[in-house]
Amino acid sequence: MSKLALNGGESIRTLPFPKWPIWTDDEINNLIDVIKSDQWGSIKGTRVNDFEKKYAAFHDAKYGVCVNSGTTALTLALRAVGIGRGDEVLVPAYTFIATATSIVEAGAIPRFVDIDPETYNIDVNQLEANINERTKGIMPVHFGGRPAEMDVILSIAEKNNLKVVEDAAQAWGSEWKQTKVGAIGNAGCFSFQSSKNMTSAEGGIILTNEDETEKYARSFSNCGRLPGGVWYEHYYLGGNFRLTEFQAAILDAQFDRYPKYQKIREQNCRILNEHLSQIDGCEILKDDPNITANSRHLYIWRYKKEAFNNAPKSQFIKALQKEGIITSAGYSIPLYTQPVMKNKAFGPMGASVDLDVDYASMELPETEKACYEEAIWFPQFVLLGDEKDIDDIVKAIKKIQENANEL
Ligand SMILES: Cc1ncc(COP(=O)(O)O)c(C=O)c1O
Repeated sequence: MSKLALNGGESIRTLPFPKWPIWTDDEINNLIDVIKSDQWGSIKGTRVNDFEKKYAAFHDAKYGVCVNSGTTALTLALRAVGIGRGDEVLVPAYTFIATATSIVEAGAIPRFVDIDPETYNIDVNQLEANINERTKGIMPVHFGGRPAEMDVILSIAEKNNLKVVEDAAQAWGSEWKQTKVGAIGNAGCFSFQSSKNMTSAEGGIILTNEDETEKYARSFSNCGRLPGGVWYEHYYLGGNFRLTEFQAAILDAQFDRYPKYQKIREQNCRILNEHLSQIDGCEILKDDPNITANSRHLYIWRYKKEAFNNAPKSQFIKALQKEGIITSAGYSIPLYTQPVMKNKAFGPMGASVDLDVDYASMELPETEKACYEEAIWFPQFVLLGDEKDIDDIVKAIKKIQENANEL
């Protein structure tokens, strides 16, 4: 008789995990207010503007500029700090595609750097070897909500005269040495896309402490206009990338609830860390006292197949899902092997462009290990339940290990 649910046995968990998104009457009432106000756009409405100020203040930043997505935020932030045609930007190879494509959209060239397997963030020890005369920026990703090593990144940036644009898409409220991420570098970008810890379905924000960066980011997001300028007068290459008042109304409703949820996620992560570190073949990421808050957009751990009868990660994931646990293998394709990158398909209809970089022959061992063999993710809403939910995750992993001969 098979024990694993994968082979017809009984699942450890039949109850659902917390649903996402979470909403209350606050979202509904705010939306009704916007409808009745007749001010649905941010040009005349006040909600986007108020949210920008609130969000920036919460993240210890001087300015916030809302835009229609995290991807847009990254592209505009790069352009606003002065990165453009022919410049190179250092970026981790293990991240969402937008981190890299935003660099291409800005006219620049992504240079992929391997990750540190202990953190799954960019390996700061490999930054300097990747700097050349074209390098103009670093785009660290606070992956899963875990802040990148900002001290080292800033000191390398300063030494080499590079701009730092933080990809904080997943890192709402994360802190490096008690400073919230997002405006530690020259600019930082967040996403409010559906899966994110705070969401308006789509949306993003750029944070910065720099007057000039704010000026350009705001203008680029609003068709190249300047504040107080004539409506049909356009100074810079911009577009309509504005957030709507509806989206700001939804985000505003979630704002005050956020710290409560972050606490629950952090508490559940601590419990999960304690349990997983006791299980052979489950490796947790390195503890770092410099990280004083973590949004825990993702809980990530390393799977060692040797402790599971040499079953590949994909088979283990299937088994865990059948036991009723929501989990995924995460990114399974290193960015430099994505068709768009390896073919340098940056021209119209995917036409290849002639660029002096060779993504097709790249091999970054830690990124490949994470993609193909080791990284396993639990999404943030799985961490919003109680201890029983975490217990079920642990029980399911142990059950699979005990019956690994069935994998
Ligand atoms: C690391 C990272 N960067 C950038 C983005 C892009 O954000 P968006 O989907 O809002 O464009 C995302 C999210 O999807 C992300 O996870």
